[in-house]
Amino acid sequence: MTTEYKVHGDVAVITMTHPPVNGLDHTTRQGITDGLDKAQADAAVKSIVITGAGKAFSGGADIKEFGSSKALAEPNLFSVIAALENSPKPVIAAIHSVVMGGGLELALGCHYRIAAPGCSVALPEVKLGLIPGAGGTQRLPRVLGAETALNMIVSGEPVKSELLAQIPGQKLFDKMAASAETLAQEAMAFAQAVSGTRPLPLVRNLPCKHPNGDAYFQFARNMVKGMAKNFPAPLKGVDAVEAATNKKFDDGMAVEHELFTALMLSPESRALRHIFIAERAASKIPDVPEDTPKREIKSIAVIGAGTMGGGISMNFLNVGIPVMILEVKQEALDKGIATIRKNYEAQVKKGKLKQDKYEQRMSLLSTTLSYDDLRDADMVIEAVFEEMGVKEKVFKELDRVMKPGAILASNTSTLDMNKIAGFTKRPQDVIGTHFFSPANVMKLLEVVRAKKTAKDVLATVMALGKKIKKTAVVSGVCDGFIGNRMIEQYSRQAGFLLEEGCTPAQIDKAIETFGFAMGPFRMGDLAGNDISWAIRKRRYIEKPDVKYSKTADLLCEMGRYGQKTGAGWYDYLPGKRDAIPSPLVEGMIEKHRKDMGVTPRKISDEEIVQRLLYAMVNEAARILEEGIASKASDIDMVYLTGYGFPVYRGGPMLYADQVGLFNVVQSMKRFAKNPLDDAKFWQPAPLLAKLAAEGKTFN
Ligand code: NAI
Repeated sequence: MTTEYKVHGDVAVITMTHPPVNGLDHTTRQGITDGLDKAQADAAVKSIVITGAGKAFSGGADIKEFGSSKALAEPNLFSVIAALENSPKPVIAAIHSVVMGGGLELALGCHYRIAAPGCSVALPEVKLGLIPGAGGTQRLPRVLGAETALNMIVSGEPVKSELLAQIPGQKLFDKMAASAETLAQEAMAFAQAVSGTRPLPLVRNLPCKHPNGDAYFQFARNMVKGMAKNFPAPLKGVDAVEAATNKKFDDGMAVEHELFTALMLSPESRALRHIFIAERAASKIPDVPEDTPKREIKSIAVIGAGTMGGGISMNFLNVGIPVMILEVKQEALDKGIATIRKNYEAQVKKGKLKQDKYEQRMSLLSTTLSYDDLRDADMVIEAVFEEMGVKEKVFKELDRVMKPGAILASNTSTLDMNKIAGFTKRPQDVIGTHFFSPANVMKLLEVVRAKKTAKDVLATVMALGKKIKKTAVVSGVCDGFIGNRMIEQYSRQAGFLLEEGCTPAQIDKAIETFGFAMGPFRMGDLAGNDISWAIRKRRYIEKPDVKYSKTADLLCEMGRYGQKTGAGWYDYLPGKRDAIPSPLVEGMIEKHRKDMGVTPRKISDEEIVQRLLYAMVNEAARILEEGIASKASDIDMVYLTGYGFPVYRGGPMLYADQVGLFNVVQSMKRFAKNPLDDAKFWQPAPLLAKLAAEGKTFN
């Protein structure tokens, strides 16, 4: 049961009891209509209060039902709202804490609404690429005016009940309760007071006009178009609210329904709904139950105050966890601390951080040159040079000084975590925490589970990731983990495309038009081409049979490391970041083609995008097969939060699903026939081939 029905004197109270937020799933909807039926049948009942138990009135539709037949199964939300409106006895919504989406639409179907202060009121459907679909776009403008309602519908942001109650002429709340504690009592008294009122007021009967409708909605469309870019829902929200102002209620409802249904089928909404679920699923690890006991992390030590060590430290200072940084030399410490200060001061200057908060954060930071000072830390994160020898020395020291039960983490991006764990006598306490640069900004945290990592260590680090507001995704141990292992295939394809006839700018533009924040060459110039050069040099020795384009090496041999040397794949004007196509680089590529005996061909943007993306997808399928990632949606989260993959496409795996895996495999077979590409690589991963053959998807 997810509802409760009780009669107090002559008032029936229907309470939604569906934790965590009284989501309106089928059972709850049925419970509400059953309660209404009982109340109608009981002659002693004169009025009805509907409310929610626990932390919300109602957070709205149950996302698990989205797109399934259950969402529409009777009584669907329309029928519940109709039953409320048609109730011969007055129905009063007693609203507190959270009233969102379908929950607000339900409340708008009641005859009266009484709200507690501090309640978050929202129609957040736009965040899932939708508009409200159960009358929200037609009823909210009738109680708040078109402009306030439109702002809420296109932003999806919550507004506090007491603020809405101050809007002159508002009809959303008939009464504000003094407090959440007195709401129930006040709602009962209100119900008794209106029990004899007839006819009963209905929101649908309220007028809804805008004095300058044409001009206002034109203005609103221009504003929203600029903000919404690749998402259709906000503009449809404008259409729906406009319909509320210039059509009869039922005709407006028909407009809402048509727009909602079309959005539900749009790839953008599918992507956003996928992300909503994927984000929550990322923290669930198949063999680590949610109730796994966690270790207490009250203090952190960081080894290395370089680019990553400083950024990593800030994450913990930001949430009030003290950090001690260790370095080999005082100068390095001073430099690292100065960078942290500079970062915070920039935030203070921009008004994003208060001066006292900044000081409070800095007061949690301490430094040392001695390992013995770290003995009390609950967890240590190593971010020293990426060399196994250096990591070995550090982990042996940590094993010597850290207290029993402390978690020992490494920020390594390419080294074998099992080997690092083996430097200690406590491999069960060792784990990888792969932050992305800049570590204080980027959302992604790859949590690398080594062979012997204990389950409670994994559970603790995942929870800690959440605490510092990261999207933590578990990866097994392999070269590059999830993200960099896939990007390697993307970069290799970018190199082959250069050899076959593309320019760096053409490739960047194609993938940026697809939606990536930055193409591979602009990205290389930003990150430093020398870094991937160093990694390739290692690969040439470790994996001599892997085919690479030589262009990136030739570029580095020219000393063109990227923005930091003022030149890379592109030219840069002093102090500027605009990428200017370089005749010198294009000449180098042309000469290289000649040396290879290649006649350049014209390559379509479509081929560029497919080769870059499908290369990642094929590698991702192997990552799944090997159990490096436990689910496809984790891979999508890695790309959305760490690599600038366009949100409206939902991640590489969802994108492949939407293209159809059969089609993806067909393209791969075509690419395998290209003698300048890597035929062996393009053999579809067995998992991909199997899913494609069965007509299935990754997600
Ligand atoms: P960095 O060169 O900026 O900083 C390394 C710091 O470690 C230096 O300040 C150095 O003085 C210090 N250090 C070196 N040996 C030490 C020792 N034995 N004891 C104490 N401190 C020592 O390097 P960065 O970029 O911060 O990288 C650190 C780690 O993070 C590496 O493992 C790297 O692969 C990884 N990483 C780097 C990313 C990046 O974008 N820079 C991204 C993700 C991971």
